[in-house]
Amino acid sequence: MPLSNRIETAMGAALASTLADTAPARLTSALTYATQPGGARIRPTILLSVALACGDDRPELSDAAAAALELMHCASLVHDDLPCFDDADLRRGKPSVHKAYSEPLAVLTGDSLIILAIETVARTAALDPARASDMLLTLTRCTGAPYGICAGQGWESEPQIDLSAYHKAKTAALFVAATQMGAISAGHDPEPWYDLGALIGEAFQVADDLRDALLDETTLGKPVEQDHLHGRPNAVALLGVKGAYERLSDILAGAIASIPSCPGEAALAEVVRLKAKSIMPKMPAGHRA
Ligand code: IPE
Ligand code: IPE
Ligand code: MG
Ligand code: MG
Repeated sequence: MPLSNRIETAMGAALASTLADTAPARLTSALTYATQPGGARIRPTILLSVALACGDDRPELSDAAAAALELMHCASLVHDDLPCFDDADLRRGKPSVHKAYSEPLAVLTGDSLIILAIETVARTAALDPARASDMLLTLTRCTGAPYGICAGQGWESEPQIDLSAYHKAKTAALFVAATQMGAISAGHDPEPWYDLGALIGEAFQVADDLRDALLDETTLGKPVEQDHLHGRPNAVALLGVKGAYERLSDILAGAIASIPSCPGEAALAEVVRLKAKSIMPKMPAGHRA
């Protein structure tokens, strides 16, 4: 089955568990709105690709981990768009959740998706308690404080932002979760997979900074020039457009070199190359060497 089908099926199964006659209908509807259709689904794709590279001997575990990670990511976007964070009206080409539903429902949608993500991994304990508990701890470490998304968003409330810690926590942490949960789901040691996740995360952040600076709102499906607007440090401001492209290709080379030796090493390198190409905006003519 193609990875995209596995991801959508696993997401659908997780969301189905939130349907109940007694549930508030608008909140239930907002959960679907925030998650379907999705964006690039890059984190669960990387997770499943790593699981496959490691043999993927328990696909029920890797599917659940992929869905949980994407649910967590969707939750982070719903909260990130709220007026108290980025105050963004558009996400994935449609009104953000607080615009479509209301601020209270957007807070609750994010909260519910976080809980659903945790529940989705917790359910795998019935299949393999050791792998489930390692996956759960990896997911929570990469999401909370001090290392995860909460820490990342927290940096925006500090008088001085530590750029490296900010990007590691805000963006790279979920990519570390992707590579490490993929390895754990297939019974492999997650430790050697840290660097690949961290480097893909760093590359992704530079690509996102380039897209923010170079693309328009319709192409991107979300507001542009946000870094400039919020006065946030970013790779384009720091290195210029050409410098940011060079940085991106250096990081990607490092990411591919860091792939631990495993049965599916070559295929995984190809996935990383293809995904990188898909997220990189075309370099504008005036900036080419
Ligand atoms: C956006 O992530 C948030 C960042 C970490 C920059 P994606 O670009 O992966 O968003 P979707 O899921 O494809 O919409
Ligand atoms: C969103 O970061 C990522 C998290 C919520 C952790 P950004 O605010 O930089 O990303 P976009 O531009 O809204 O997707
Ligand atoms: Mg933000
Ligand atoms: Mg934002």
